[in-house]
Amino acid sequence: MSSRLHNSSNQFYRAQKWRAVALASLTLIAVTCILINREKPNPSSDLLNHKNAGFQSSVRFRPSLELMNGTDVIWQIPDSPKAALFIAHGCGVRASNFWDKYPGCPNCTGLPEERIFVLRALERKFAVLTISSLGRCWSFEETEAIKWIIKWWVEKNKLGKLPIMAMGASSGGYFVSALAAEMRFRSLSIMIAEGVFASAGVPKDYPPTLFVHMPKDRNTMKKIQKNMKTLRQNGVLVKEIRCMQFPLSPDLFSNRIPGINQTLSVKMYHLFSEKGFIDENGFMNNDGRQTQWKEALIQRNIIPENYELLNHIGEELNLAFALHEMTSFETDGILDWFESNMS
Ligand SMILES: *[C@@H]1O[C@H](CO)[C@@H](O)[C@H](O)[C@H]1NC(C)=O
Ligand SMILES: *[C@@H]1O[C@H](CO)[C@@H](O)[C@H](O)[C@H]1NC(C)=O
Ligand SMILES: *[C@@H]1O[C@H](CO)[C@@H](O)[C@H](O)[C@H]1NC(C)=O
Repeated sequence: MSSRLHNSSNQFYRAQKWRAVALASLTLIAVTCILINREKPNPSSDLLNHKNAGFQSSVRFRPSLELMNGTDVIWQIPDSPKAALFIAHGCGVRASNFWDKYPGCPNCTGLPEERIFVLRALERKFAVLTISSLGRCWSFEETEAIKWIIKWWVEKNKLGKLPIMAMGASSGGYFVSALAAEMRFRSLSIMIAEGVFASAGVPKDYPPTLFVHMPKDRNTMKKIQKNMKTLRQNGVLVKEIRCMQFPLSPDLFSNRIPGINQTLSVKMYHLFSEKGFIDENGFMNNDGRQTQWKEALIQRNIIPENYELLNHIGEELNLAFALHEMTSFETDGILDWFESNMS
């Protein structure tokens, strides 16, 4: 079973080539969706427009860090927490990518979407727990250790009375969907993954499950539709939130990435436009992973070769293309889901 978590991302890359062809025909649909969204603003567009998304939060990062069962465990508990939230990252991401650098966490370097998600969750009084997978991606063999760590963390911080929720992105989404069959989560959110559900049948008390996905990844969307149907048939409450592509703006990077100023952000935007990485409306022409944007920035001396925020920029580009990336745009939708399934 463990290989499934890795395979899904390999399949993802293999599928990209033919998908690029199919995407051309999708553009019209996606634009339509954005127009609909514009008419009916939702919390996500507020987040996008927010000048310094996540910067001016009333919350300060003060995470605690512990090494447990061979991995790093990083968490923060707000005053009077209402719930506890375990977050499982995607492949290549670490627990330290959800938090900004802090004396207690010298290696913390928050990726833009991960850190905004955590800030918002803390603001809304969720105690947040992040744990790194042993390898690049999650493996089902880690289930026992993670159950142990969550239990240890709940006891240590006297959170036993709170409902516990889980959110997982990509590989982390597969992982929490399986973990939920083995331990009691009050509700669940699976991002950009269809999850894994036992073919023998979903457990009776499987938690309410929210799928947050990017319909441009049609393959995953089809699997999500199928799994939602199965869960419904088993009496599990399900819901989905769809995330669409959006155009880059010159200040996107400075608005969302601490450490990037507006001058640099505008320069990057113009170069991406000049190189044809984005179209005349600012939409990415391809996934960030398939675009030579790093090379272009380095060649033009806009950033140094060892620039420390490369992954941060890459994440925003993937997010704008909206094929497969962690997103904080729907943080409020996800937290609403958790809150509405608390009692
Ligand atoms: C931070 O990273 C360095 C280099 O990778 C490592 O040696 C050190 O143990 C890490 N510190 C903590 C607190 O994780
Ligand atoms: C995790 O580590 C603790 C403390 O070292 C140990 O007692 C426990 O058995 C470990 N749990 C698992 C599942 O490996
Ligand atoms: C913006 O950031 C760049 C790169 O870090 C730096 O060289 C430049 O001086 C900064 N500009 C301003 C106006 O702060």
